[in-house]
Amino acid sequence: MTRTEALRAAVARLLEAGLEDRAADDTRLMLEHSSDLSRAGLISNMDRPQPADEAQHFEALIDRRARREPLSHILGKVGFWTLELEVGPEVLTPRADTETVVEAALAAVQDRQAPLRILDIGTGSGAIALALLSELPNAIAVATDLSQKALDIASVNAVRNGLGEQCILVRTRWADGVDPGYDLVMSNPPYIASAVIDTLDPEVRDFEPRLALDGGADGLAPYPHLIAEAQRLLKPGGTAVFEIGYDQGAAVLSLAQAAGARVQLRQDLAGRDRAVVCRFMP
Ligand SMILES: C[S@@+](CC[C@H](N)C(=O)[O-])C[C@H]1O[C@@H](n2cnc3c(N)ncnc32)[C@H](O)[C@@H]1O
Repeated sequence: MTRTEALRAAVARLLEAGLEDRAADDTRLMLEHSSDLSRAGLISNMDRPQPADEAQHFEALIDRRARREPLSHILGKVGFWTLELEVGPEVLTPRADTETVVEAALAAVQDRQAPLRILDIGTGSGAIALALLSELPNAIAVATDLSQKALDIASVNAVRNGLGEQCILVRTRWADGVDPGYDLVMSNPPYIASAVIDTLDPEVRDFEPRLALDGGADGLAPYPHLIAEAQRLLKPGGTAVFEIGYDQGAAVLSLAQAAGARVQLRQDLAGRDRAVVCRFMP
């Protein structure tokens, strides 16, 4: 079978598995991953027969995707901001929406060369802390998580992206035991209502860690504590940025205002509320 024929058959399989929007793109990426060729090399070799070992590898990847395993787990990596991050079942795959949180934090930074101190609570793959460090060369970040497996992946990602010296990983509940003195306090906490998780796509429901998803009965459980911790941990003039679900803007805004914060909502590329930016009065 040529690669073109193998590609067509694989797209048909993924369409049958319910992947209407993703079948063509995902199949192409898995074909690239299973071959030794660059993207350009692959394009010019599509009408050659697929070597047996490549065909077997490709077939195995397609089987996994047809069982609705996320593409990021199959490839073992994902692009976030300007970085490539290792991901797997131990961590939430960072989403493009979370780049809104990174942008909101950078918008609050007046001098990108300053020796800023960043706290990222619930760092997962390290996405937010590492994206910020990649833009703030003299900053350091403390990144926490309750999951040691997540911290192990964040550590690999920090080192692979040349940011290992700037990133301190701490296993703790939220920010327990962390001392005050941060310019930026960041968090993308779990914010899905518990009962909604079982209605999500299989890629999320069956393959992403519950600890990264479950925000309690209304999805808002982490925010009161995170807001109080931001108030405790920020330096005067510092900024906290929290990711929120698209329909949680009003609720988190009023929680933060009730704690005395000046609050702004920021929208993602689809125009939905995605980040809450808080500053506390001295
Ligand atoms: C939605 S994920 C976000 C991961 C990453 N920051 C990102 O934006 O891709 C939430 C993270 O919070 C962590 N987490 C959940 N509960 C926690 C807790 N009580 N203390 C610390 N981390 C927690 C999870 O393990 C997970 O890595």
